[in-house]
Amino acid sequence: MTLAVITLAAGKGSRMKSTLPKVLHTLAGQSMLQHVLNAASQLPDAAQHVVIGHGAGEVQQAFSGAAIHWAIQSEQKGTGHAVAQALPSIDDEDTVLILYGDVPLIQTETLAQLTALAQQGQLALLTVELADPKGYGRIVRDTGGNVVSIVEHKDANAEQLAIGEVNTGILAVNARFLKQWLPQLSANNAQGEYYLTDIIAMAVAQGVTVTTRQPQRASEVEGVNDRVQLARLERIYQSDIAHQLLVDGVSLANPALLDVRGHLTVGSNVFIDVGCVFEGDVVLGDNVHVGPYNLIRNSIIGADVRIESFCHIEQANVAADCQIGPYARLRPGADLHIGAKVGNFCEVKKATIGAGAKVNHLTYIGDADIGADANIGAGTITCNYDGVNKFRTQIGANAFIGSNSSLVAPVSIGANATVAAGSVITKSVDDEELAVGRARQKNIAGWVRPSAKDGKK
Ligand code: UD1
Ligand code: CA
Repeated sequence: MTLAVITLAAGKGSRMKSTLPKVLHTLAGQSMLQHVLNAASQLPDAAQHVVIGHGAGEVQQAFSGAAIHWAIQSEQKGTGHAVAQALPSIDDEDTVLILYGDVPLIQTETLAQLTALAQQGQLALLTVELADPKGYGRIVRDTGGNVVSIVEHKDANAEQLAIGEVNTGILAVNARFLKQWLPQLSANNAQGEYYLTDIIAMAVAQGVTVTTRQPQRASEVEGVNDRVQLARLERIYQSDIAHQLLVDGVSLANPALLDVRGHLTVGSNVFIDVGCVFEGDVVLGDNVHVGPYNLIRNSIIGADVRIESFCHIEQANVAADCQIGPYARLRPGADLHIGAKVGNFCEVKKATIGAGAKVNHLTYIGDADIGADANIGAGTITCNYDGVNKFRTQIGANAFIGSNSSLVAPVSIGANATVAAGSVITKSVDDEELAVGRARQKNIAGWVRPSAKDGKK
């Protein structure tokens, strides 16, 4: 028996004021729809069905390759109509769970409670008590406290409007019931829509038990209609992550000034200063110190590394004891061995920086292998690109590259070799050699500066 998860995502989302379909707007770096699919995918035997309409092509493209059954709802005739579009590809025996692509913080545990009830033959409804229930469907109960129906705000009378318990829209029920009830819906209501909520009264009439559950936190069922609500949920999500990091023993200079868009794994005794963004999978080893305003994406940072302020680090591997920054850029394939240093305004791409090697000032190292303890002087450039092809530069252990040298690849500099400052190196240099590749200096004594033609000073 499968759990068919139907996520409604056909709405336009006009209040986002965006050309991007609403459910593709991101929270913590992932689309809202992705968050919903993630929560549902952790339920056993879940098959994902998504109902799309506005921006359908773009949504499908964003999830190309994912195991999703798409149902197209070309005209938005209401939530009941939307669910009906997905039903033909669902078995009668399946349990159906209905979710919303714009309700991104729903938790798997909450959904598991609903599906368990539905698997026992009940209709399980997620409701929430709101101080201001305006706009929501109200949960109408009889004097015994049993759910009788849901009445939409626009169809409710004064007595019903006073009810604070509202429908979140999330429910679970057997597919056989839905297939029986949805064709009976009518659009004879204030909005002229096929309301999914009308199935509650049908269930009651048929003697199917309607049971309600509440989420752990109200944020789980908060929907996003505009960017104000999206930003609010982002802050809730981020503050939860920061809280967990603190509980796990990480020091955060300011828990409100941290953004994790992916998965951050931390060792013990890690410190993170303000304004840091972590994207994708990032690992920080024991005692790592991250200074203010760093972006770190899909990288592994070893123990005891210090990252000073304002660095941009992506797909880099940084071994223990390294020092990075301030203002360093590590691009994909930067591989720093133990104790290496990459400092101010240096860029490293597809390059190995050997143990203890130093690349400290205003330097570009691309497509290169630098040996242990080499010293790369200020302003050194590996000229790796001829406009068409890329070439590698090899620098041996303990080599010393003088400031402002251009190393024109392919080229290799031997171990313990020295390159004089200001050299343009186009021929390889052997171990221990000194290479001087610059014009010889001439000093002209008694030279007189030109004077102005009209005699002015
Ligand atoms: C719905 C519920 C209401 C509940 C509220 C919670 C109904 C009739 N009402 O009202 O009881 O309190 O959610 O937020 O179900 N959608 C489609 N296709 C459609 C219509 C809607 O995909 O034809 C999607 C929308 O994109 C949206 C969601 O379903 O994500 C909810 O639709 P919306 O029209 O906003 O329902 P509400 O009026 O908010
Ligand atoms: Ca809504």
